[in-house]
Amino acid sequence: MTESTTIRWEQDRSGLVTLVLDDPHQSANTMNQAFRDSLAVITDRLEAEKDSVRGVIITSAKKTFFAGGDLRDLIRVTPDTAQQLFDGGLEIKRHLRRIETLGKPVVAAINGAALGGGFELALACHHRVALDAPGAKIGCPEVTLGLLPGGGGVVRTVRLLGIADALLKVLLQGTQYSPRHALQNGLVHEVAATHDELMAKARAFIDANPESQQPWDKPGYRIPGGTPSNPKFAANLPAFPATLRKQTAGAPYPAPRNILAAAVEGAQVDFETAQVIEARYFVELAAGQTSKNMIQAFFFDLQAVNSGANRPKGVEPRQVRKVAVLGAGMMGAGIAYSCARAGIDVVLKDVSAEAAAKGKGYSEKLCAKAVAKGRTTQEKADALLARITPTADPADLAGCDAVIEAVFEDTALKHKVFQEIESVVAPDALLCSNTSTLPITTLAEGVERQSDFIGLHFFSPVDKMPLVEIIKGERTGDEALARAFDLVRQIKKTPIVVNDSRGFFTSRVIGHFINEGVAMVGEGIEPASVEQAAAQAGYPAKVLSLMDELTLTLPRKIRTETRRAVEEAGGTWEEHPAEAVIDRMVDEFGRTGRSGGAGFYDYGPDGRRTKLWPGLREHFTRPDHRIPFADMQERMLFSEALDTVRLLEEGVLTSVADANIGSIFGIGFPGWTGGVLQYINGYEGGLPGFVARARELADRYGARFTPPALLVEKAERGERFADA
Ligand code: NAI
Repeated sequence: MTESTTIRWEQDRSGLVTLVLDDPHQSANTMNQAFRDSLAVITDRLEAEKDSVRGVIITSAKKTFFAGGDLRDLIRVTPDTAQQLFDGGLEIKRHLRRIETLGKPVVAAINGAALGGGFELALACHHRVALDAPGAKIGCPEVTLGLLPGGGGVVRTVRLLGIADALLKVLLQGTQYSPRHALQNGLVHEVAATHDELMAKARAFIDANPESQQPWDKPGYRIPGGTPSNPKFAANLPAFPATLRKQTAGAPYPAPRNILAAAVEGAQVDFETAQVIEARYFVELAAGQTSKNMIQAFFFDLQAVNSGANRPKGVEPRQVRKVAVLGAGMMGAGIAYSCARAGIDVVLKDVSAEAAAKGKGYSEKLCAKAVAKGRTTQEKADALLARITPTADPADLAGCDAVIEAVFEDTALKHKVFQEIESVVAPDALLCSNTSTLPITTLAEGVERQSDFIGLHFFSPVDKMPLVEIIKGERTGDEALARAFDLVRQIKKTPIVVNDSRGFFTSRVIGHFINEGVAMVGEGIEPASVEQAAAQAGYPAKVLSLMDELTLTLPRKIRTETRRAVEEAGGTWEEHPAEAVIDRMVDEFGRTGRSGGAGFYDYGPDGRRTKLWPGLREHFTRPDHRIPFADMQERMLFSEALDTVRLLEEGVLTSVADANIGSIFGIGFPGWTGGVLQYINGYEGGLPGFVARARELADRYGARFTPPALLVEKAERGERFADA
């Protein structure tokens, strides 16, 4: 290899070399083999022609600066190929180190996103100037994919910012900063408003610093804030594992643990040794299952879902301009805010002007908070609020090209509100219901244009939750599905698409999680350890506290309706052991959940959770009764995974990516698994291992753990869950 194919060398008469990252075969520059080869060629040339080089600017010809490691390569790394990854990583580090110690000033002119490997490349430069481009992000998000920055990112951020700031601001959270915030947090030195200014600032640095050195290569350098060998520093160290515990709640997230170790160990040795330590911890993560799960979910599945693999082809994209939101309660208020934030005019209707205004008040609160925190300007907040018109008058809905209904969960009421407005809104308006459980096909019977009717299931709190579950009724048309998909993308949320069924995918599957937790309390297991099992499995919400949030009366209502529907269809209702526990809680003890002031937990007068209700131990717990902790965790995880497979069998779910993304983003299935079906793929022993374990759980805890035929067949054929 004698030629650089992905890095262009441009040199002016003054000896200033601009290295332009420009991979001819890809839309973004990545750390692929061609880049590694090019970097070697360029580094050799810089050293050979050093005398005629005055300084170096590294920039890119793409929209992004540099995208980092190629995830397609990383997801294929196995313990057998780990050595290769280790060697390749060290090779890149060596080249970057050679550039860094060339004795000439090197500036990163960051013209777009510099995340992961891109930021690591910039960190090897003596000076970083970032273009304040809209949407440009800077940082090390590797932890969110179960990895650590293995291109010198740990070693250099620790030396740049000190251990504490490197961990908390950059490495452990994977925060992606705007150029301005990157400046405030010490990740870059300067920000430029235009491309010309970016290059001018880069040149100015070189003119002023003919012989640059990194701070850590200067004599007498010490890591800011000290290192663990300093007694003062050591006194603060115990705080880190606490942060870590909070972040991962003991769930199997190895990345934060390895990041912490690489940072602390690397701070106590010389630069080169620290690079090797970082490489070891990186390779361990890359060869492990968790990073593969997380890359699958948070990169590949998310891309598949957002890019519209599910959107019917051939329907022209359309933007909604004015939306009617019916019902200004908790969900309607949140939906109104999310739509207005995306620039859509909103008419927010409730039964009275006061109720509608109260719904708008929610947006007012969120806007005030965003302004106070500097996340938006007063002007933008005012414009957002001006787009929301609260009303009680159906006539105000004239001209709306989409309707999102969020009134009480009652079929007759939902029919009535649609009847009231169908002839007022635009004649081809998209008609959506935010029901969480009612069949869309039945709701559609309340409107004239059934093919335009669709389910749009948001999650609470709407402004924070990234997912929307789109539900196709039996008569929903392709046009409506495409428009619903476009609307969800327009408000910058992630859409999954499922077919109609009671509870759809998300509500049905989360019900199994909750039922399993409640059933364990009924069996006599200590409630605190049930909560602990959920947290350590990686669930963001503990199971009994979640039940309290949703209210104990909700599953009773759903159960009554579902049971009636099953029996009407000639089926038999199979009772879940959780039902008796919930009935006792409500009927015998009058505890209906947080909104009722008492549930599995006690609540203070301000509605805050205080402690688990001591009565649980008195009435349910058998002090001598214990089951293995792993069984407790896996009963929750398996109950959700097994029902997801049943939903695939029934045709409610049609895509693996939808199941994985929907489970993590909608109902809090633990992120380390890569989603509910990836959990099965990645289970020890693969699908056969999962089937064997499900049978074991079925023997111990009930037939509900019997693996469905689809799963057993796939396991026998040696397949896994993957989209075609
Ligand atoms: P909510 O009780 O907070 O709000 C319902 C609102 O609808 C109230 O403001 C009520 O005044 C209004 N309303 C009643 N009749 C009306 C009418 N004829 N015209 C206009 N407005 C009317 O209920 P929430 O929690 O916002 O739920 C609304 C819907 O969203 C339900 O179908 C629920 O199942 C669904 N959902 C709820 C979720 C949650 O976490 N609470 C999550 C996803 C969906």
